[in-house]
Amino acid sequence: MKEKLEQIRREAEERLKAQNVDLEELRIRFLGKKGELTSVLRGMGALTPEERPVIGQMANEVRAYIEKAIAEKGEELKKELLKSKLKKERLDVTMPGNAPKVGKRHPLAKVEMEMWDIFLGMGFDIAEGPEVEYDYYRFQALNIPENHPARDTQDTFYVTPKILLRSQTSPVQARVMEKQKPPIRIISPGRVYRSDEVDATHSPMFHQLEGLVVDKGITMGDLKGTLELFAQKMFGEKTRIRFRPHHFPFTEPSAEVDVSCFVCGGKGCRVCKGEGWIEILGAGMVHPNVLRNCGIDPDVYSGFAFGMGIERIVMCKYGIDDMRLLYENDVRFLEQF
Ligand code: PHE
Repeated sequence: MKEKLEQIRREAEERLKAQNVDLEELRIRFLGKKGELTSVLRGMGALTPEERPVIGQMANEVRAYIEKAIAEKGEELKKELLKSKLKKERLDVTMPGNAPKVGKRHPLAKVEMEMWDIFLGMGFDIAEGPEVEYDYYRFQALNIPENHPARDTQDTFYVTPKILLRSQTSPVQARVMEKQKPPIRIISPGRVYRSDEVDATHSPMFHQLEGLVVDKGITMGDLKGTLELFAQKMFGEKTRIRFRPHHFPFTEPSAEVDVSCFVCGGKGCRVCKGEGWIEILGAGMVHPNVLRNCGIDPDVYSGFAFGMGIERIVMCKYGIDDMRLLYENDVRFLEQF
């Protein structure tokens, strides 16, 4: 019996050395109710009274030994598992991360939002108008009668003889004035369409931002002050503006407005083509006929309006020489803004 116990101990010891021991199986095999140790103990009845306590003690020692060994092995395996997990899941916080690709606003949207900011800061609201417009708002309301030659230069895509894609944002002026009584202070950004061929400076679709102010006592001084502040916020504090006489059917007097070149400051350079000035918009005092057409008494109220191409401002601001780049959506280009 002694030998048998000795053998059980050795066998357990041997088994526990193996890499992938199943500890539960070992426990059942050696210590379980039907285990080897138990069957030895069952045979104790056949021993002499002197032998019994000796073998009993020995059996207890073997049991204690195996229990302890299994527990220790269990701890050891746990530690190893943790170690290998830590090794596998190690995180090197000094490694550069995988930065997620973050999109950006398109330069057109970016500049348009800067414009919103500037004009909202001056107390303007944003008004929207349809891209598909009635002939009435595009022409008659804006003091361009049927058969007027000014229609030709702006001929655009007609949907029906009386409905067309707008070629400028100015019809929004008439829509706003019809609905809203002065004081009016709005900007209206949006797409416009012209039957132009695509080249470096033309596109059949582009964006404009319209401005309109109507109230008692509005003068050209207000127009100048507003546009000067806009130009300085958009192109830099030192920017000056210049009005050149022009003609628009819906404003009187009318002007084209230039900003001093923000690259050379007015001396003349490549960007301004040696002029020192860059044309950015059309403007003027709202024509009395337009006010009248919209139910506003020109003897009581006066107003100014302006309209600018957003593409043009973006191209000036960032020195972009080909408008097509703004529509191609090439990320290598767009990433730069
Ligand atoms: N709508 C004109 C254009 O497209 C610009 C403009 C707007 C001029 C408002 C005067 C007043 O050229």
